[in-house]
Amino acid sequence: MKIFFVVIMIFFFSCEKQDDGFLYAPCEDDDCIIYETTPYPTPSPYGFPFMIIPDDNPLTIEGVSLGKKLFFDPILSSDNSISCATCHIQNNSFSDPGQFSIGITGESGFRNASSLVNLGWSSSFNWDGTAENLREQVFEPVVNPIEMANNWDQVEYDLNFNSEYRDLFKRAFNIDYIDSVHVAKAIAQFERTLVSANSRYDKWLRGEVMFTEEELDGYNIFNTERGDCFHCHSGKNFMDDSFHNNGLDETFTDFGLYNVTRNDGDKGLFKTPTLRNIEYSAPYMHDGRLSTIDEVIEHYNSGGIYSATIDPLMKYVNSNPYGIDGQSGLMLTQQEKNNLKAFLLTLSDNDFIQNNEFQP
Ligand code: HEC
Ligand code: HEC
Repeated sequence: MKIFFVVIMIFFFSCEKQDDGFLYAPCEDDDCIIYETTPYPTPSPYGFPFMIIPDDNPLTIEGVSLGKKLFFDPILSSDNSISCATCHIQNNSFSDPGQFSIGITGESGFRNASSLVNLGWSSSFNWDGTAENLREQVFEPVVNPIEMANNWDQVEYDLNFNSEYRDLFKRAFNIDYIDSVHVAKAIAQFERTLVSANSRYDKWLRGEVMFTEEELDGYNIFNTERGDCFHCHSGKNFMDDSFHNNGLDETFTDFGLYNVTRNDGDKGLFKTPTLRNIEYSAPYMHDGRLSTIDEVIEHYNSGGIYSATIDPLMKYVNSNPYGIDGQSGLMLTQQEKNNLKAFLLTLSDNDFIQNNEFQP
């Protein structure tokens, strides 16, 4: 009787038919092949803080390589026409050179695609911080009707239908049914490996090259009250993992952080973007309104536009109650502007945009 029951159970589990038509065979106890995964070394470039990796998604060679395959595969979009890499282009530090990205319908969004660099050191994602971690972020573009316009049932169906993916997910996560969570986990693993730490600036920190006089002066402008960039663009990734209104508008069409918090004081606040590889990731700001680094410097040099939520660190805005009376703008000389730009260009990491480990 017992044996009969076991036979029935084996039959039942070995060939379970899904409603949506494909077959999969979840294994039970002794049948299971359990693959060993190979740890992927945690990126730890010179001088960087420790990258925090979630306990339930350690980096593995298998997971990272699967995440990369998914990142470049249009299978995630509803008509198989675009992948993550369509909008996040390596040559542009995984950002989009277009002001707004075009999704599958040809319609464009209203934000500039962020560059994907050193994300493993961030704790909020998207310009308004809608995602708290990388895994959660993946859920957004896949279903966004003007991006990949897909739904997760379809994504899971397509991936489970594909024997190569079934094998790769089994090897990376020991799962027999591919679900959205593991798709997101794999992509998040790949994203954590997108590390840029070999710019001229990094080489200078490591004592391998000398800065020119201009670069050094630009560095000082950036890191002192003269230019006052360092309060917000701080640390190894030139961002404070926080949100500010840097004086772009008097009134807002995009409310930024307010969309998430519904707190009036957060209207017009956006995530401080990293400045690493800034040379490659034009256009600039959440809506890509500025096309060159010179225009960005001009924005800050002018002091920016006052509004109720202007950041206290934007000290030279006209009529800023926190501001320094009588001075409007940073009043940098042309030479100082050139030097500040020269410093920003030391953040370019050519090895990052050419790294073939990030290619399909
Ligand atoms: C149609 C273009 C498009 C596609 C396709 C796309 N993205 Fe994006 N991505 C964007 C835009 C635009 C933003 C900025 C969104 C915002 O802030 O509202 C963004 C933001 C991000 C961010 C946030 C970065 C940060 O520092 O805050 C990550 C991470 C990201 N995308 C990863 C992905 C992944 C992974 C995929 C594929 C599953 C993907 N994107 C597909 C356009 C796209
Ligand atoms: C009060 C905080 C703050 C200060 C001070 C500040 N920034 Fe920013 N910076 C931001 C924020 C926030 C954004 C994004 C704003 C947006 O898109 O709405 C930004 C955007 C930028 C961008 C565009 C990046 C991109 O990927 O689009 C550059 C370049 C930049 N800042 C350089 C500088 C420089 C140079 C200085 C000093 C002269 C400076 N910032 C001072 C907060 C600040």
